[in-house]
Amino acid sequence: MSLSKSLPWTKSPLIINAPMGGFATAKLSTAVSQAGGVGLIGDDSNMPALADTLAEVDKALSRTDAGLLPVGVGLLLFLVRLDEALPLLEKYRPAIVWMFAAKELAHYADWAARIRAALPKSQIWIQVGSVHAAMEVAATAKPDVMCVQGSDAGGHGYEKGAGFISLLPEISDALAANGHNGISLVAAGGIVDGRSAAAAFALGAQGVVMGTRFLSARETNVHPVYQEALVAASDGGQSTRRSKLFDNLRGPNIWPGAYDGRSILMQSWADHESGVGIEEIRKRHKEALKDDDKGFNADRSGRAVMWAGTGVGLVKKVQPAAEIVEEVRSTAAARLKEVASKL
Ligand SMILES: Cc1cc2nc3c(=O)[nH]c(=O)nc-3n(C[C@H](O)[C@H](O)[C@H](O)COP(=O)(O)O)c2cc1C
Repeated sequence: MSLSKSLPWTKSPLIINAPMGGFATAKLSTAVSQAGGVGLIGDDSNMPALADTLAEVDKALSRTDAGLLPVGVGLLLFLVRLDEALPLLEKYRPAIVWMFAAKELAHYADWAARIRAALPKSQIWIQVGSVHAAMEVAATAKPDVMCVQGSDAGGHGYEKGAGFISLLPEISDALAANGHNGISLVAAGGIVDGRSAAAAFALGAQGVVMGTRFLSARETNVHPVYQEALVAASDGGQSTRRSKLFDNLRGPNIWPGAYDGRSILMQSWADHESGVGIEEIRKRHKEALKDDDKGFNADRSGRAVMWAGTGVGLVKKVQPAAEIVEEVRSTAAARLKEVASKL
């Protein structure tokens, strides 16, 4: 069965919003699922906020025949305590539980076992950024879906990475060679429109996960100046960078060592490049957060992090999430037909 068919409210080709902690809240996930995509809720370990979000989504969306809420919940394993999240998951029964950023790969299997016992009808999705991680996670946690995250991705990902164009086929071959044929793959990292989505489908992805593109959605919980900077940015390979600096601005970096993050470059980065020490950068950053614009600035003179992927130069306007889902879905399908007809 195709992945889209196993999620009965969705349409094919499958469009998914990334579970961006603090950004992808009730309004975004509801709008994406209502448009026939997969709405994923981001969580950054704030359980009362997650409870409110799930209650809001539960009011807005009808459940599937299996009694599931037609959205997913993203969990960052190094931050969240499963004992705190599990009662909420059991209460609201999301169709998908997404996991990312475990301190140890072995943790995924423990979490998957406990989540499966509590929510046997929900799918387990795990985001990975290397062939090694994909193979270990496939063998131990046995997820229903793996999200192959390429290094163009906005926000956090593997510090040592590859674009999904090489990562996805290699993971796909390695899974097949080891008999893990039941795991569907979805792609993430630099996908912002129907063309990049078509490329991912051509590589064998059964869905595309977009973070940066959905940061421009009206329903996303993002500061308007950050959104302005996103729409203004171009040439993403130059205007964004992966670095651990971005996790060091508020205080010592708490992310597991294998991860860093991609942000639009801003004044904190310029200071770092010109040799300003981390204590001074932190002091300036803390002061900037007190401003009305919360340290964001569309001309990149601000000091706050603005997570975004290399596809940011193709994000040109703020628009409703449903429009993004419909546009990427139809353009990807049309593009695949057009390419096939030209071969
Ligand atoms: C602002 C932002 C926040 C993110 N937060 C999370 C998160 O909380 N959990 C997670 O699994 N991934 C998170 N990601 C990464 C996404 O899951 C996804 O891999 C990425 O957005 C894909 O690349 P793209 O931004 O180029 O579309 C975040 C990405 C962005 C841009």
